Amino acid sequence: MTQINIIAAIGANNEIGLNGDIPWGKFPEDLKHFKSLTIHSTIIMGRKTWESIGCKKLPNRRNIVVSRDINYLNKIKKDVNCFQSIKSAIKSVTIGDIFIIGGSEIYEQTIDLSKKIYLTQIHKSFDANTYFPMINDDDWKTVNCISSFNNDFGYSFIELDRV
Ligand SMILES: NC(=O)c1ccc[n+]([C@@H]2O[C@H](COP(=O)([O-])OP(=O)(O)OC[C@H]3O[C@@H](n4cnc5c(N)ncnc54)[C@H](OP(=O)(O)O)[C@@H]3O)[C@@H](O)[C@H]2O)c1
Repeated sequence: MTQINIIAAIGANNEIGLNGDIPWGKFPEDLKHFKSLTIHSTIIMGRKTWESIGCKKLPNRRNIVVSRDINYLNKIKKDVNCFQSIKSAIKSVTIGDIFIIGGSEIYEQTIDLSKKIYLTQIHKSFDANTYFPMINDDDWKTVNCISSFNNDFGYSFIELDRV
């Protein structure tokens, strides 16, 4: 049975994006973590997140991009799968787990469908204009939390399971 998971990195104020990019810039430890979790699975992203990663497929994963604009989707290369709705994107996955990789609009619409949230919590606030949806504490329990530091900030890799 395919499980839907969310994966996101958030700042101290739930921020995830600034003007189409990541607020904190490069964060190699998180990229490594992201890769280890999503490799060989299916990732689903919104059109703006697709553009934020330079419209380049992330290797060794099935990449799905959602947009309501069929003309936009028709221009995307064939090695990436495209859907006009999140529902049809999810329905197309019959093998392995799904990781919803953002952004805000897609998280908002899938958090209620998800069984797990893999959250990188950065213990610092940043300028931002895009945010992760509110997590209802009654719905989620922390099952794992590993904290560390890099040169710029402390951070925790947190795993939440739906209660
Ligand atoms: N920190 C993190 O973990 C993280 C992760 C991902 C992204 N981000 C950041 O978040 C920002 C982007 O997030 P965002 O919320 O602005 O955009 P987004 O969620 O990536 O993409 C939004 C677009 O997705 C399409 N869409 C939304 N709902 C849809 C639906 N139900 N069916 C089909 N298509 C649908 C629409 O595309 P059309 O307009 O083409 O129809 C919409 O404009 C960037 O700054 C990015 O760097 C951060």
